[in-house]
Amino acid sequence: TYIEWDAVTAEKGGYEHFMHKEIHEQPRAYQDTMRGRVDETGKKVVLPDFHMTDEQIKNIRNIQIIACGTAYHAGLVGRTVIERLVRIPVETDVASEYRYRSPIITPETLVIVVSQSGETADTLAALREAHANGAHVLAITNVVGSSIARDADDVIATLAGPEIAVASTKAYTSQLIAFYLLGLYFAQVRGTQTEAQVAETLAAMQALPEQVESILAREGEAKVHAENFSAQKHLFFIGRGLDYAAAQEGSLKLKEISYIHSEAYAAGELKHGTLALIEDGVPVIALATEQALIEKTVSNIKEVKARGGVVLTICYEEDAKELMKSVDSVFTIPKTLPLLTASLSVVALQLLSYYASLSLGLDVDKPRNLAKSVTVE
Ligand code: G6P
Repeated sequence: TYIEWDAVTAEKGGYEHFMHKEIHEQPRAYQDTMRGRVDETGKKVVLPDFHMTDEQIKNIRNIQIIACGTAYHAGLVGRTVIERLVRIPVETDVASEYRYRSPIITPETLVIVVSQSGETADTLAALREAHANGAHVLAITNVVGSSIARDADDVIATLAGPEIAVASTKAYTSQLIAFYLLGLYFAQVRGTQTEAQVAETLAAMQALPEQVESILAREGEAKVHAENFSAQKHLFFIGRGLDYAAAQEGSLKLKEISYIHSEAYAAGELKHGTLALIEDGVPVIALATEQALIEKTVSNIKEVKARGGVVLTICYEEDAKELMKSVDSVFTIPKTLPLLTASLSVVALQLLSYYASLSLGLDVDKPRNLAKSVTVE
């Protein structure tokens, strides 16, 4: 018999879409990004190719993270991670805004550019602007030989492997891993975390690949949830803290491949305007993993429910029972440290977008109007 087999089918390795394959490659990508960057005891971060001296790291006064699209969303997580671990003020900006606002850069400013491709025109121009103003520039990129990697003073390669689908998945989550490693490294140098705290976070990071596997094993559940909302025209994501950062990425993912209009809102900000859009049947995806803020998020969920919104919550298994009193359905994720939560919750959001796109019969890997890498301004 004749078997039809072409290069693209082979590259997809048995998956129907590159995006689906890349979602499933995340456990491996997490390991690859960590490999060689944790010492043999498993308790300390080492960054062998790093050029910044301890002296330079101790002198950092402020950090500016610059990126576009999904990489920008990784930068939003990076901001909170670095601020919590190192207590250095961080701002995250989209590259096309940063470069035109005469950014305030001092010799103690560290600029971090984040880019999967390493070729995004706006990000590259922002890097050059930062350089021209004397900043030390660190690039977090997936392509080691890229323009951004070449121009930067320091590079952390994400090592997620080639990403083909336009909607970024494994590149984003490996950027989160890079931020965790960087934050821990700075914390070691500046003494803002104890050895035990660093070891605890690294241990939790080692558990992430298996935890992602356990989410992927339940993708049938995500498919059902996606099919429940995919006929809707509008959808809202809400969350607080790192849940808000993850919500923004979930919203972008959904827009990119399902064309459903969606917005991510800081849960507490909803009542200042957007709540007017919640009416009978409007789907809301509420991320509620930030333990310290969960009660506040629940009260925002109640505001939504009171207006007829249909709420799906992403939460930890142990909170599901209590949350079910206030919401319509839950998708649970395994428990991790508060700092690391986005690297699990986003996987659930990726699956929801993927299955929404699929159920609408859209081109998952090549959404309309979008390009994988944007090399023009
Ligand atoms: C394009 C892609 C996005 C990506 C963004 C930044 O818009 O469609 O998925 O997040 O560029 O790309 P970069 O390669 O710099 O991460």
